[in-house]
Amino acid sequence: MNAKTRQFDLVVVSNRLPVDRVTDADGQQSWARSPGGLVTALEPVMERSSGAWVGWPGVPDAHFDPFEIEGGSRGGSFHVYPVTLSELELERYYEGFSNATLWPLYHDVIAPPIYHRIWWESYRTVNQRFAEQVAAISARGATVWVQDYQLQLVPQLLRRLRPDLAIGFFDHIPFPSYGLFAQLPWRAQILEGLLGADLIGFQRSEDARNFSRAVRSVLGVVPRRNVIVAADESPAGSHEVEFGDYPISIDADEFEQLGRDPAVRRRARQIRRELGDPAHVILGIDRLDYTKGIRHRLKAYGELLEEGRISVADTTLIQIAVPSRERVETYRRLRDEIELTVARINGDYSVIGRPAIQYLHRSFPRREMAAFYLAADILLVTALRDGMNLVAKEFVATHVDNDAVLVLSEFAGASDELKTALLVNPHDIDGVKEAILQARDMSDGERTRRMRVMRRRVSEDNVERWSDAYLAELRRVSAANRKNTSEADHEH
Ligand code: G6P
Repeated sequence: MNAKTRQFDLVVVSNRLPVDRVTDADGQQSWARSPGGLVTALEPVMERSSGAWVGWPGVPDAHFDPFEIEGGSRGGSFHVYPVTLSELELERYYEGFSNATLWPLYHDVIAPPIYHRIWWESYRTVNQRFAEQVAAISARGATVWVQDYQLQLVPQLLRRLRPDLAIGFFDHIPFPSYGLFAQLPWRAQILEGLLGADLIGFQRSEDARNFSRAVRSVLGVVPRRNVIVAADESPAGSHEVEFGDYPISIDADEFEQLGRDPAVRRRARQIRRELGDPAHVILGIDRLDYTKGIRHRLKAYGELLEEGRISVADTTLIQIAVPSRERVETYRRLRDEIELTVARINGDYSVIGRPAIQYLHRSFPRREMAAFYLAADILLVTALRDGMNLVAKEFVATHVDNDAVLVLSEFAGASDELKTALLVNPHDIDGVKEAILQARDMSDGERTRRMRVMRRRVSEDNVERWSDAYLAELRRVSAANRKNTSEADHEH
């Protein structure tokens, strides 16, 4: 059978594929795996059960045939089915509805969401295309796992096309409180789209509660604990949708190994040396996104410098800002604001060879990230709203010597689990300043105690366990639904 007509028992679908199109020095193009957490989590199960991944390759108007990609960290392979988006769809479905409507709405309207009917139309069209691609390659009774807010209509569209499939959905970002969600002109359609699934997973129990309330208020359907009876076109006339929190994690073993790797440790020492060997290295690593609270962090840091409570003589802040969604207006403005602030602080406080802030606007490979984690004494995660924040978990896993402090926003999902971090409200600038000083002055004993508890938690909740637990639950719920459907079918 050629790749085009193959059928798979496990199909993962996400807006962005876990592979990047790369061009080498000779102009040759090929695919490289991007080191995302999700692909690491799913690789073993993809191999065990003949898996495929459906998603967009990140460039518009490009048509690619399906292909198989090999040679991951575990030496495995999986099949990839690229979905084409036109330039107009990139603008309307991706930059528009996904990232200028849903993203700000779901992150507590930190930026004002924009509602355009034409974007919504495009979102529907593209979700339909994803659903059709999945339907075409899924074996009978296959398990399909739909990822994230860009594809919320896929569960329902897919159930219509292929009622035999087990359909799971996982929301990687927050689900907003009802007061905010209610703004969405297409709130009913979005909920109905999601309810095509057998199982809906969220990061936090708070997200699951918000979802439950939205279903009750918008659709008038009252969930029974964590189960919703959703109408469908099956002989039974409905199916049960289970929902709950399944906080995502990381490949903790991999980061632990990086933390012990002599070459990574050497590189971490080198980074500190090149910064002039300051006594305290503070780190921020974020996608350049307004949800991450980078401005709040810089404000706190700038004030501490101004008040003379920290000094460039012994402290440096490294801020890595990974470029993201650069054509969306709010992201462009944010970049300008952040870079202006960084330049002002550096202009006022840096001395030759001792920058107040070492600012890097680019992404780094995993090993280099691990070296930055190790080089830092303190990580600042000051997100105003964040589904989980995997950087916090990676930092914890990498610090195998328990010799660092995590300052963590209570508005990041990770704060539900990493309770011995220094938890902060990022809107409270004085509170953030106090936390930075407390982190800097913390005794070795307290640092170790706090870190050890977090490291245990992160290594227990490894991402492979997360996906195994989710998929097991999905298969259980969908088997019960299929049993009900076939019984109803026999009665007719
Ligand atoms: C968040 C979202 C992902 C998204 C990623 C990068 O983590 O939950 O779905 O892929 O940001 O954003 P991008 O728009 O570049 O895919």
